[in-house]
Amino acid sequence: MNIQHIFIIIFLILATPVVNAQSVYDGAKNHACLKCHASQIISFHNAIIEKDQKKLMNPHYIIDTLGLKAGVHQNFDCTDCHSYEYVEYPHNGNLKLEPLNSCLDCHGGDPTHDAYQFDRINEEFQKSVHFKISGEDFTCGKCHDQHTYKPTARNSANVREIVEYSNGLCLSCHNDMNKYSLIAGKENPEIVQVHNWLPNQELHFEHVRCIECHTDVVDNLMVSHNIMSKENAVRNCNECHSKDSRLKASLYKYANLQSRADNGSVRAILLNESYVIGAQQFPVLRKLSFIIFFMTLAGMLIHLFFRFIKK
Ligand code: HEC
Ligand code: HEC
Ligand code: HEC
Ligand code: HEC
Ligand code: HEC
Ligand code: HEC
Ligand code: HEC
Repeated sequence: MNIQHIFIIIFLILATPVVNAQSVYDGAKNHACLKCHASQIISFHNAIIEKDQKKLMNPHYIIDTLGLKAGVHQNFDCTDCHSYEYVEYPHNGNLKLEPLNSCLDCHGGDPTHDAYQFDRINEEFQKSVHFKISGEDFTCGKCHDQHTYKPTARNSANVREIVEYSNGLCLSCHNDMNKYSLIAGKENPEIVQVHNWLPNQELHFEHVRCIECHTDVVDNLMVSHNIMSKENAVRNCNECHSKDSRLKASLYKYANLQSRADNGSVRAILLNESYVIGAQQFPVLRKLSFIIFFMTLAGMLIHLFFRFIKK
């Protein structure tokens, strides 16, 4: 390590907070809440001992701000869904008990978002093994986070992205002992072991969604919501590895994306994808450009500095 390295490191350290602050506070709204809820460390005034204090934030209460900005409810204020009383810290303890709206409280019979068929999804969901076993305790919100939900199967033209997003919803619980036992009151079976009979498991899980094998294909519904009991899951290789593969009908396969495109919505898919990419990549790119900018600047200054000293 020589002086040059130290200079560069100092520049990078100086540059980092600027970059972070930029990407977090972008949304203009929600500043006050995200000051704490997008941060590992919170600062507040303790009125009892008359002192400014800092504390670690509970990780369960940290909101994914990139997800928030890409999500369907990106235009909401936090207090559109949560009590306005939350502007005060410490929060009133009773607020923990505040009932929050479910998807259907707002979207049930919602004509503006007809295309999503919320009510049909609800009917299908109520046939699912989750609802049958756990009833009302298994809400839509167990799979869909209202902060970050983004209809990926509908908008993405990238199969890998669709599969990853969709499986992520299932695995967020089936691979998380605490979340699972919160509902089932028992430990979760290891997903990898349960599917030991499937060769190339990793490859399969990257290319097919869990719901491909665990739901019936439903006509006219973009995403089938009736998760069946394990006895009815697809195990037969030919269901997919054959000419008339069920994947063709499950609106997931390339052929389907293609035919969706042929139906005149090529532009919609392309535009959508570039929109999504724009929304996701922009902060990252900006961060990169900041870093490159500062590094270039640092490089130039250091170079000049040493030439000066040598002379
Ligand atoms: C000074 C930091 C700070 C600010 C500002 C803040 N919060 Fe919090 N919030 C916390 C902490 C810490 C918790 C963890 C539980 C607790 O200490 O009450 C929390 C918990 C919560 C919870 C979870 C309550 C539960 O237990 O279920 C919600 C919801 C919440 N905050 C919403 C908001 C909203 C909405 C705003 C903006 C109007 C906001 N908070 C502003 C620090 C803050
Ligand atoms: C569209 C409605 C909606 C908006 C907008 C919203 N929330 Fe939430 N929030 C919820 C719901 C519903 C839950 C309960 C999730 C659950 O328990 O499954 C929740 C839970 C939380 C929690 C508890 C931890 C968790 O994730 O379960 C915190 C903290 C929180 N919200 C903070 C915020 C902040 C900060 C904002 C603004 C940036 C915000 N929320 C915006 C609906 C919303
Ligand atoms: C507090 C009411 C409320 C709740 C709860 C709520 N939404 Fe929404 N949602 C809205 C509103 C309002 C819009 C329109 C937002 C806009 O146009 O900016 C919307 C938009 C949407 C969209 C359409 C996005 C688009 O542009 O086509 C989807 C999909 C969606 N929500 C899904 C859900 C799901 C799934 C849940 C439950 C996890 C849910 N919402 C919970 C009020 C709500
Ligand atoms: C067991 C998990 C699970 C539950 C429970 C669940 N969903 Fe879904 N939902 C999914 C998955 C997976 C997708 C596909 C995600 C993607 O790629 O867009 C999806 C997609 C959706 C979509 C987008 C469909 C489209 O046409 O683009 C809506 C709307 C939706 N769900 C609403 C609901 C509602 C309302 C409930 C409760 C009645 C619910 N979901 C319960 C897993 C679930
Ligand atoms: C290729 C088809 C296929 C795919 C893909 C698939 N599964 Fe399965 N899954 C099955 C079959 C078949 C069974 C029944 C296994 C048995 O009973 O021995 C099963 C069993 C299960 C069980 C029951 C475990 C138990 O014994 O209680 C769960 C939970 C499960 N799968 C979740 C998932 C999740 C989550 C994913 C996505 C990451 C997924 N599956 C992907 C076919 C599949
Ligand atoms: C919030 C947690 C959670 C999420 C998210 C979730 N599950 Fe489950 N799932 C459970 C629990 C809990 C059980 C076990 C119920 C019981 O046996 O008591 C279960 C059971 C199952 C079973 C086995 C049913 C049987 O016959 O024993 C399958 C298959 C399954 N889930 C598939 C999925 C798929 C596919 C997704 C994503 C679309 C998903 N799950 C999302 C919690 C979850
Ligand atoms: C739900 C549909 C589905 C089922 C059921 C299924 N597969 Fe697959 N399988 C796929 C997909 C999709 C791929 C990945 C193809 C690709 O690379 O794009 C794949 C890949 C494979 C590969 C790797 C091929 C390669 O290119 O390396 C093998 C081997 C395979 N499957 C065998 C099986 C066997 C054996 C079974 C039955 C036990 C089975 N699959 C069940 C959908 C399925």
